[in-house]
Amino acid sequence: MARRKKPTDPQDMASIAERSAQRPTGEGSVKHREEIIGDCRLILGDCRDILPTLGPVDAVVTDPPYEIGADKGKKGAIPFKGGKPVERAYHPDNVWDIERPDREVFDLIVARSRHQIIWGGNYFADWLPAQGRWLWWDKCQTMPSYGDGELAWTSLPQTTPKKFVLANNKLFADRVERVHPTQKPLPLMEWCLGFLPDAKTILDPFMGSGTTGVACALTDRSFIGIEREPSYFDIACRRIEEAYKQPRLFAEPVQKPVQDVLI
Ligand SMILES: C[S@@+](CC[C@H](N)C(=O)[O-])C[C@H]1O[C@@H](n2cnc3c(N)ncnc32)[C@H](O)[C@@H]1O
Repeated sequence: MARRKKPTDPQDMASIAERSAQRPTGEGSVKHREEIIGDCRLILGDCRDILPTLGPVDAVVTDPPYEIGADKGKKGAIPFKGGKPVERAYHPDNVWDIERPDREVFDLIVARSRHQIIWGGNYFADWLPAQGRWLWWDKCQTMPSYGDGELAWTSLPQTTPKKFVLANNKLFADRVERVHPTQKPLPLMEWCLGFLPDAKTILDPFMGSGTTGVACALTDRSFIGIEREPSYFDIACRRIEEAYKQPRLFAEPVQKPVQDVLI
């Protein structure tokens, strides 16, 4: 799939630059860039500056930073046993997982999309509408020091929580190469898209290594992804390009949603 640079609308460019300049010193301004790969529009930039320039989308499927300090604000790599170490993108003034994103981002997400699936939603529940179905990723953890799983808040109409089971412990997790410290498994994101059969355009404003975009490329959806760290942005471009080269037949199988009441 050929990749081409997308020239940003000059009016949008001015508005992005203006917003970026208003950020406090030390928040590190990002050089804006756009790539088009197949039906995917990938934007290097800060989603707080980009989101106001975008039109409505069918759904947002995203995984914002959770304030857990996965990058720890340090240089170097997070070692994964049984897999390769994953480089942290490091900015001395701007570590990405220390604070949760501004509330304005969630307001924009809800205003611009018909449906939302937001991983780590329990960290942002005070800002999200008090309704919708929760999704639960059971990581089958055997180690007491790791989280049992993760929760996604959704705007989906029904209320029964749904569970996805995929081992993510040291014994089983690293069969797939990881290129981002908090990379989501592809089958998990494909499972999420299964709840949005009518959504043709999906937005991920915290794209990371582009797993949501890969799932969209493999399921014939249009995708808009925003990522602030150039190294992760380049990884996302590469992964999405690769996804378009793969026949859908060889993609990882999608796990059927499991009906499960959590409490
Ligand atoms: C939890 S990670 C997403 C990982 C992704 N789901 C994957 O599978 O690779 C969150 C990402 O959001 C990016 N990020 C943080 N703040 C951002 C912002 N204001 N605008 C755009 N990207 C941001 C970080 O650089 C990080 O890569």
